[in-house]
Amino acid sequence: MDRYLVFGHPVRHSKSPFIHTLFARQTQQELEYGLAEPAVDEFAQALRTFFAQGGKGCNVTVPFKEQAFTLVDRLSPRAKRAGAVNTIKLTDDGVLLGDNTDGAGLVADLKSHGVTLGDSRILLLGAGGAARGALAPLLAELPSELVIANRTHTKAQQLAAEFCDLGPVTAQTYEQLAGPFDLVINSTSASLQGELPPLAPALIHTDIAIYDMMYGASDTAFISWAKQHGARQTMDGLGMLVEQAAEAFTVWRGIRPGTKQVLRELKRNLGVI
Ligand code: ATR
Repeated sequence: MDRYLVFGHPVRHSKSPFIHTLFARQTQQELEYGLAEPAVDEFAQALRTFFAQGGKGCNVTVPFKEQAFTLVDRLSPRAKRAGAVNTIKLTDDGVLLGDNTDGAGLVADLKSHGVTLGDSRILLLGAGGAARGALAPLLAELPSELVIANRTHTKAQQLAAEFCDLGPVTAQTYEQLAGPFDLVINSTSASLQGELPPLAPALIHTDIAIYDMMYGASDTAFISWAKQHGARQTMDGLGMLVEQAAEAFTVWRGIRPGTKQVLRELKRNLGVI
């Protein structure tokens, strides 16, 4: 049977096996999907061994995405832009192809929530790997403006300079930000520590859409804060998780699984509904 897995550290709580097993059942594809948690300095060897032993493809998550970028034979254009690889496929001619489906997953999830990206003013919080992966797919939707704000302003400036050939992207400090924005995407890891990015509450209004790439069994700190300040449409990163997985599944199997039912089952599994 064709074998796939996700590499990460820690990876025990990954929902990818759950999601891909449901995709396989739904599309009647014969495959198995597992977990691998190599020591941080043993990822390269573990990856080589997996493919030498007949593995067909894998996902790569924290902290290995940047390393995976350097280990594959060929990069897709979107992986090259993202500077990170979250999906690897062994092609029929034996080439390890590195791809990145995170940004496509974000955009697919935003669209599934009915968020309009074209001609909109988008504020992206954070300038780490998650922000980098999101930029090209967001700019491809032709927003009127995309502003990056980051605690360390120089990183936002670097990112804006790197992507300004793709669209109207600029960097501003948190203090400089002037609304109204139509959509705020939190790509920072602040919610992991229960912290908030230092955003002025005045930027939140009733018609704004709020997206936090993080997720949990209850609202993230950022989503709770935005709701308190009047945001009516808030979304967490669970949908992005399912959508990036669907994109990876499509890369591997050439067939696109439906995501709605799988997202519902995942929510049930996590105790969210
Ligand atoms: P990832 O790959 O998930 O993006 P990362 O590369 O470590 O992770 O980036 C984390 C991002 O969250 C950074 O933009 C970081 O800001 P700095 O560049 O200033 O470090 C941001 N971040 C983390 N904790 C934060 C906090 N408490 N408030 C604001 N931003 C925070």
